[in-house]
Amino acid sequence: MDKFISIREYFLDQNKDMYKKRTRTNFIIQLLSILSTTIIIFILFWDAFRGVILIGSVVAYINSITNVKDSFKKIFALAHELHQDSLHAKDILEVLKLPVQNEDKSKKILKHFHTIRFENVSFKYQNTSKYALYNFNFSFKKGKNYIIAGKNGSGKSTLTKLILGFYLNYDGRILVDEQDLKEFEIKSYRSCLSAVFQDFTMHQLSLNETVGLGRLEKMDDFEKIKIALELANVDFVDNLPDKYNQQLGTWFESSHQLSGGEWQKLSIARAFFRDNASLVVLDEPSSALDPLSEQAVINSFRKLSKNKIGLFITHRLKNIKFNGDIIFLENGKIIEYGTHEDLLAQGEEYAKMYHAESVPPK
Ligand SMILES: Nc1ncnc2c1ncn2[C@@H]1O[C@H](COP(=O)(O)OP(=O)(O)OP(=O)(O)O)[C@@H](O)[C@H]1O
Ligand SMILES: [Mg+2]
Repeated sequence: MDKFISIREYFLDQNKDMYKKRTRTNFIIQLLSILSTTIIIFILFWDAFRGVILIGSVVAYINSITNVKDSFKKIFALAHELHQDSLHAKDILEVLKLPVQNEDKSKKILKHFHTIRFENVSFKYQNTSKYALYNFNFSFKKGKNYIIAGKNGSGKSTLTKLILGFYLNYDGRILVDEQDLKEFEIKSYRSCLSAVFQDFTMHQLSLNETVGLGRLEKMDDFEKIKIALELANVDFVDNLPDKYNQQLGTWFESSHQLSGGEWQKLSIARAFFRDNASLVVLDEPSSALDPLSEQAVINSFRKLSKNKIGLFITHRLKNIKFNGDIIFLENGKIIEYGTHEDLLAQGEEYAKMYHAESVPPK
């Protein structure tokens, strides 16, 4: 809390500094403007008094000065706006400047796959000395569901990020159908994957478009979108004023805001729409979901992962309500592997965590 307050104060100080500078500059400009106008008007009246110019010309000159002054004020305000916008634009330009990965056209194109095999894979995040995943060996096979579990910081997300091809600077090899992942065009590899993340994005689009984003080249295929929505148990379309064309989110007048569970169901529908995927990942829905919505999301995922490699990352073991092999991680390594029943019978770390969770808080 103290840290939050100090960060907030830092930002407020920065803002205060900016406004102080702006007020100071404004004051100096106003002062100069009043001074110069007074001098010019004095000269004009002096000339009129001496008969050098007509009194009518004095009025015309004063009007012109006022116009020029207003124009300068506008330019100054615009320059200030431009400076503020350029601060945001700088961030955007920095993102745009990032090199596009793997544009190498000589790389192989991947359309689908059956297995992903990790061979002695170790991975450290940049500027860290500790391995987030260490000497990892595992084979993920089509038609199977894998549940990735373990304590906080055990490496679940890191393993997922490596499978999704987010990082390629790992040691060891990741083999896709026994060929090195790095030999494939990464874009084509990613087009074979479908992921539903815990922190889903609320797109300010129509319901149709939100699902269609899953596969841009098929975005206009309305029948396919309807099938995806049915498979994901999206049962609230009829309640929306504009049905499938309903604008979602909060940005527009006609927008309709969905609940957390409804957004999550739409992300699952988007994953169903991407029906060409060979591997699907579901990062467990957040605890904000009510138990019925949570169960509906897990049921949909079970359907979605049929005939694909299914990865389910769980943060709560009580949620393991569908069949699959459990990969239990600790310090970036697999310490236990097997079915829920196997691991409970073993009575080791998995069983301890499961029983600890089952005890209701006092
Ligand atoms: N972006 C990052 N930069 C540096 N270190 C990281 C980064 N992300 C994760 N780590 C470190 O890597 C290790 C594994 O983290 P990871 O996020 O994979 O754990 P996790 O099992 O997903 O944990 P959680 O249950 O909290 O989601 C941790 O020690 C973590 O501190
Ligand atoms: Mg994680």
